[in-house]
Amino acid sequence: MKLYFDNAATTPIRPEVVSAMTSVLAEDYGNPSSTHGFGRSARALIETARKSVAQLMGAQAQEIIFTSCGTESNNTVLQTAVRDLGVGRIISSPLEHHAVLHVLEDLEKRGKCRVDYVKITSEGGVDLSDLEELLKKSATKTLVSLMHINNEIGTLLDLPKTAAICSQYEALFHTDAVQGVGHYSYDMAALDIDFLTASAHKFHGPKGIGFTYIKNKASLEGLLLGGSQERGLRAGTESVHNIVGLQVALEIAMQRLEEDRTHIRTLKSYCIDQLRQNFKDLKFNGCCTDTEASTYTLVSCCFPLSTAQASLLDFQLDLKGVACSKGSACQSGSGATSHVIEQLYDGHPPGPALRFSFSPMNTIQEIDALIAVLKEISS
Ligand SMILES: Cc1ncc(COP(=O)(O)O)c(C=O)c1O
Repeated sequence: MKLYFDNAATTPIRPEVVSAMTSVLAEDYGNPSSTHGFGRSARALIETARKSVAQLMGAQAQEIIFTSCGTESNNTVLQTAVRDLGVGRIISSPLEHHAVLHVLEDLEKRGKCRVDYVKITSEGGVDLSDLEELLKKSATKTLVSLMHINNEIGTLLDLPKTAAICSQYEALFHTDAVQGVGHYSYDMAALDIDFLTASAHKFHGPKGIGFTYIKNKASLEGLLLGGSQERGLRAGTESVHNIVGLQVALEIAMQRLEEDRTHIRTLKSYCIDQLRQNFKDLKFNGCCTDTEASTYTLVSCCFPLSTAQASLLDFQLDLKGVACSKGSACQSGSGATSHVIEQLYDGHPPGPALRFSFSPMNTIQEIDALIAVLKEISS
């Protein structure tokens, strides 16, 4: 038996995506920078993909820059905002993904900018009044970097409200939307967001491709030195098959958004009910049981296990065919306790944390099977 509940780590690629990509790999091998026909066909595929992604995001085509992943997109925005836009201060949260936190630590260590962290509520949300206080305090050009959806506990950030606060204090706003794109609709023209990052493998697309939304007015230069691909913002021959894969995956995700959301919501609420009924001392993390304040795609909880049971948890889950995240969400199996869970419980979580994240491919029967496995492990 195989039970895949680790869709926040990565999702299975859709067959339609594989077929679009293999066709490009086989037929459209031209270098998009070449001016001959082969090159022009490859270029046309990229520009069609850019237009489609832009349209689905409510953005303009020139605002979409393809990168290799969410990590690269976050690095690009944070590092180049400091280098090219005169940003001297970044405000972020301690619950961000390491693809943000480690960049901020490095920038601060190298004396490139000051970093302040906003207060977190007891539910794992960003304290927006504290953000406002922090923004009031300094005249230094500031970038606020806050994720749309926390990848470990699922807390949602109110994007319009946060963007309005940033705009009131003339701060730039970046959101890591890696867990949101493909699962929520975005209208970048209406949202006052300067930078947004996304990654295809989180919405049933290929690994190794993501994009950065850069609002038209922002004039960054790329991190990599080399050719002038992607308006000079991302040197290197474009990964045409991956770009087409991202496009098709996003098109399907947006077409199926309502249908998939309804299905996954049902799974999530069934999973919560079953966990509640079967594990009396289980603690849900953050506000992940609140349908308004958290994403519909995941459940995170701390399991009441004895030390002996906890030490074998990873092994037992794997043995029984269950894939979910334990500890550090994007590094399941790393063994380290997640900085997000640590922060939520002041360093004393009430048992090992497990994250179950769903996709449209999961079923109620799989959740029943998951609960049976968890009961066996904890008995
Ligand atoms: C919120 C968040 N940001 C960034 C990343 C990194 O994305 P990628 O794997 O595409 O580098 C992840 C991946 O898990 C994530 O969940």
